[in-house]
Amino acid sequence: MPDPVNALTDAVKKTVESAGRLAHERLSRQTPPVVPGTPGAETPAYTEPTEPVGPPAPKPDQAGPDRRTATGTATDLPPTAVAQQGAFLTTAHGARLRDTDHAQKAGRRGPTLLQDHHLREKISHFDHERIPERAVHARGAGAHGVFVGYGNAGSISCAELFGAEVVTDVFVRFSTVVGSRGSADTARDTRGFAVKFYTPQGTWDLVGNNIPVFFIQEGIKFPDLVHAAKPQPDREIPQAQSAHDTFWDFVSLHTEAQHHTLWNMSDRGLARSYRTMEGFGIHTFRCVDAEGATSLVKFHWKPKLGVHSLTWEEAQLVQGNDPDFHRRDLADAIEAGAHPQWELGVQVMPDTDDQTFAGIDLLDSTKLVPEELAPVQPIGLLTLTHNPTNYFAETEQVAFNPSNLVPGIEVTDDPLLQARLFSYLDTQISRLGGPNWTQLPINRPHADVNDNLRDGQHQSAVHGGVAPYRPHSLDGGCPFHAGAADGAFLDLPVKVAAGVKERALPASYDDHFSQCQQFWASMTPVEKEHIVAAYAFELAKCFEQPIKERQLQALANIDPVLCSEVATALGLPAPGPTVPLEAPDASPALSQVGGTWPGDGRQVGILVDVDGDLSGVSEVADAVHEAGMVPLVVAARGGVLPDGTTVQRALNATRSIEFDAVLLAGCPAPAPDALVARDAKAGAGGATLDPRVTLMLGELDRHCKVIGAWGAGAQALEAAGIDAAATAGVVVGDSGPAVLAEVTELMGAHRVWERYPARLS
Ligand code: HEM
Repeated sequence: MPDPVNALTDAVKKTVESAGRLAHERLSRQTPPVVPGTPGAETPAYTEPTEPVGPPAPKPDQAGPDRRTATGTATDLPPTAVAQQGAFLTTAHGARLRDTDHAQKAGRRGPTLLQDHHLREKISHFDHERIPERAVHARGAGAHGVFVGYGNAGSISCAELFGAEVVTDVFVRFSTVVGSRGSADTARDTRGFAVKFYTPQGTWDLVGNNIPVFFIQEGIKFPDLVHAAKPQPDREIPQAQSAHDTFWDFVSLHTEAQHHTLWNMSDRGLARSYRTMEGFGIHTFRCVDAEGATSLVKFHWKPKLGVHSLTWEEAQLVQGNDPDFHRRDLADAIEAGAHPQWELGVQVMPDTDDQTFAGIDLLDSTKLVPEELAPVQPIGLLTLTHNPTNYFAETEQVAFNPSNLVPGIEVTDDPLLQARLFSYLDTQISRLGGPNWTQLPINRPHADVNDNLRDGQHQSAVHGGVAPYRPHSLDGGCPFHAGAADGAFLDLPVKVAAGVKERALPASYDDHFSQCQQFWASMTPVEKEHIVAAYAFELAKCFEQPIKERQLQALANIDPVLCSEVATALGLPAPGPTVPLEAPDASPALSQVGGTWPGDGRQVGILVDVDGDLSGVSEVADAVHEAGMVPLVVAARGGVLPDGTTVQRALNATRSIEFDAVLLAGCPAPAPDALVARDAKAGAGGATLDPRVTLMLGELDRHCKVIGAWGAGAQALEAAGIDAAATAGVVVGDSGPAVLAEVTELMGAHRVWERYPARLS
């Protein structure tokens, strides 16, 4: 039998480039430099238009669901065919209306008439516009894209989408887990990473997270976990936070959750962007090749931009300044032409009777397989090409389900996965108002559907024939059972371990701490420092002393330094371990520090002095664009500067968190609206520098972001008290382009951690 691990690596290099090319061929346009949020091509009239014209076309960065019938057939309808039609306002039945601002009344000062159909229809429809939010993962953002196979996965799976240069349409939704639909994006939390592949063999949903392990080993505990993590039921606070008693009560009593919680407390819980997250299928899946040979497989998404996070202070500032930070970042990047990309990779393990690899039980989703033991091998490329046209129709109504599988990919008996196979379909019946949500445009398969399922609320297929049952003879016997040659789902016969019927798990699930110990040992000093601070913050927000003490006990079972650092912050004694403390091998792949990454779509602020020398500013902005990043000119006021440069961010409406790096092209003196004495946001200030710039530079400095300066910009550094020569990651040069070149290189490492060396080793 061919060795699946080695066979996979063979063809990768040849096909990566062509996959990228194919993905980009699907883009609707050659992207000119776009600064997201700039005015549209059509300037709106100052007065309300009166000449009837049709609805607007979608923006170039937008796409909607593929135009399919409710039963999966492709149509040649233009994208706009499913949008509103005609130039005139109508009722839902198409009757044109002459007025929508006044109800019909019995006399101008009289009562409103029941017969006013338009009033009742308009208000009634509005009354029912909201649907229940998702029970978890309510807050999210989506995008359309394509997946292109590298063609090297045939040795493990016969799924056609993995074939060489096979292009599959996808819809991706990223999310936080705990917060409500309107919560802030940057809460410390796990992120959902759900991908719907619309293949001709049916839809495959890979419904994963940005953390490779899960809180619990059994799906039956999911309601307990979620009840503990959601806002407390008495006052319904805190929103989108794990920093409260019920969460820590659960995870400290239920120590299998400690591994996932440790990842949450690490920088992984504070993604910089959806574009800079890894994704994981978490469970072990069973892949089947064309000969019926099986392997146990874990799926990984590897971002081309690397894995990067916010600092905790940034995350908190963002929540107030731009709660839509991740949603905006994703849409802006796509609009700006910085199309996010991930490689899909697999860890392949032999399908042995004990379903164990290197001593790790592959059916326990609180455990990962270190990449050093089973390397992640790339098998295809995902590119996000378009933003949705309509949030509700697409991102809100999309329904993922781990039981949507295609031939070549099957589930295992992981008890967490098994419960998920029931839960998603069930919840979507109530969330989407009935059993026919697969017919919603975003959920329609790109494959023929002939399911014998009938009727139900919102049925939008018009089924023919008289015999939606099997067997029958009345409709010619259609639909027929498919055989293997017809691409039928395989339902592979798999041996089930004999046992007694019981509510229990095998002993291999009892180890809750060894991989926590390995994770901690794999962190760099700065990452360890962040983890300590996160635990200290979260537990300080708990009121109940026994919960804090219990969690400290769990930390003692991970690492004595971690435990004592957090205990000190809480003013409590550090307990000793109750499990053996191993000296685990570090797994470098678990750390996100190190490496050099492209800066595509990163935002670079260019601070100018509106009264100063503006020469060279537009040249630098162009160079930022050419480097694949987004230049944002920052000034004391909005509008257009004397040299024609447009200001994208006025100091009164921006904050450092918008920028991955800032270039100082001037030293603006305090502007009239700086209100030094009254504006709490304004920093110490001084006569020479606008205090809001002082504040910004202080934050950029603390957050280890790169700062560049030339000309009068160097004086801004001085006025803000930043010693350029003594501060790592601060570049002062003679010209904008020269400084930008150095800044771009430094940004490749994401942050300049050397600026403040960590205390822990
Ligand atoms: C490895 C473990 C799990 C992962 C990676 C995971 C991931 C996800 C993701 C990414 C979503 C959001 C999908 C979207 O964007 O629409 C989601 C939603 C959901 N998950 Fe999970 N989940 C896990 C475990 C579970 C378990 C054990 C249950 C229940 C037994 C569950 C129940 C739900 C429900 C009810 C939703 C809402 C679905 C909807 O309304 O469409 N999840 N999950």
